[in-house]
Amino acid sequence: MIIAIDGPAGSGKSTVAREVAKRLRLRYLDTGAMYRTIALLALEAGLVPDRIPEAEAIAAKARIKLEPQENDLTRVFVDDREVSTEIRGGLVSQNVSAVSADPGVRRVLTALQRAQADQGDLVLEGRDMGTVVVPGADLKVYLTASVAERARRRQLQLAEKGITQPLDELIAEITRRDAYDSGRELAPLCRAEDAIEIDTTSLTIQEVIDAVCAEALRRAPQVARDDHAPESVISLKRRRWPLSRMARSPLDTLLYRVAYSFIPPVWKFLFRMKIYGAENIPPAGAVVLASNHRSNLDPFFLGVACPRQIHFMAKAELWKVATLGRIITAMGAFPIARGAADREAVRRAIAVLDQGAMLGLFPEGHRHRDGTLGPISPGVTLFSLKDGVTTVPAVLEGTERVIRDRLPRLPSVRVSFGAPLEMPNSDLPRATRAEIVGMRLEEALRHATSQQGDR
Ligand code: DC
Repeated sequence: MIIAIDGPAGSGKSTVAREVAKRLRLRYLDTGAMYRTIALLALEAGLVPDRIPEAEAIAAKARIKLEPQENDLTRVFVDDREVSTEIRGGLVSQNVSAVSADPGVRRVLTALQRAQADQGDLVLEGRDMGTVVVPGADLKVYLTASVAERARRRQLQLAEKGITQPLDELIAEITRRDAYDSGRELAPLCRAEDAIEIDTTSLTIQEVIDAVCAEALRRAPQVARDDHAPESVISLKRRRWPLSRMARSPLDTLLYRVAYSFIPPVWKFLFRMKIYGAENIPPAGAVVLASNHRSNLDPFFLGVACPRQIHFMAKAELWKVATLGRIITAMGAFPIARGAADREAVRRAIAVLDQGAMLGLFPEGHRHRDGTLGPISPGVTLFSLKDGVTTVPAVLEGTERVIRDRLPRLPSVRVSFGAPLEMPNSDLPRATRAEIVGMRLEEALRHATSQQGDR
């Protein structure tokens, strides 16, 4: 079976192609890595930008060896030299579009890719698989995602490697690359007519993998599959609810999932909830959600508005009532003793982030029922400084009116998620970075609050 997966940068192609190949026991070919390798060799030979056509000869001579990895990007060797890291660096990324637009280079690489496909049982991933390289593929998939979402995914990927790059820059880079890859004359990035298109913006990577595998098995049921393969065909329709709340980290809990399969519609209706900026929440990976605090019910409002499970650090007093304590523990929260150095709470918070889950914090420490923002306590900003963590500010408005004079009310409630905080340069001393993060967080929370007034 031959599966062709195309799509723009950041649409999730590489992970999806690799996992689909693994599950269906097919081989996997990352054709972007091939173009990147030729771009590197052309750069090294001084052919970029003026003598790119000479790169065809380099491509024809290069002995490229691709070694797909279980859970990582393909390793790439030219002769015996490993170039896996270099081909994914900034310089190659900036120049690969120009090199891959060259007809000679494409001719050579297309032939190599077809030779691989001729051997059968292959998942090919790139830009022109379904349209040019293997137009007769058994299954063609075209993955897309919004530019903002792709930029956020790229930011997460970079953050995991300790690199911080502002979202605006990434959005500009992706937009430029899209325009180049789609606008070139030869084999532009476009969807084959008979490809199935999946918009991955609000899907988890597992949902996309399941969908592609299911479709592949429907078309060729004889394909070998391992124990993880889906048992039955899953519809390719987007299933935002309740699958979007499926556990995404090993820490996520069943009770949370069950509770939040019915709370949101009711709360959204009762409180005429308005939710802004949910697209600012990364779909996966370690996240600190830092919110202002106005009511004991705030965690519920955030939970309703947020597509992922939030593991709240909550005041230890709540655990004094045994049943309540048990329930909130089962909802994934853990206690913090305020006003003391609570090492256990810090350890639990770090464990949440280490497992790629979402940590919910109220950095003001106490509720501010008058709607003002209290001082940010410095300790919480340290979690944001952990490698690979994205910090998303959240502002609640209206929750201070939910209980008035000890009686429940039904005010309208707004929840706004701000853009992820930009992290300070990692060369700065830790204390300085913590201070900068605190300032940025405060600014983000205030900014969102004043914007709400404008709406
Ligand atoms: O998928 P990627 O980001 O590693 O791809 C790197 C570049 O190579 C991308 O800018 C477009 C180009 N490319 C191509 O033109 N045709 C392919 N089949 C794969 C990649």
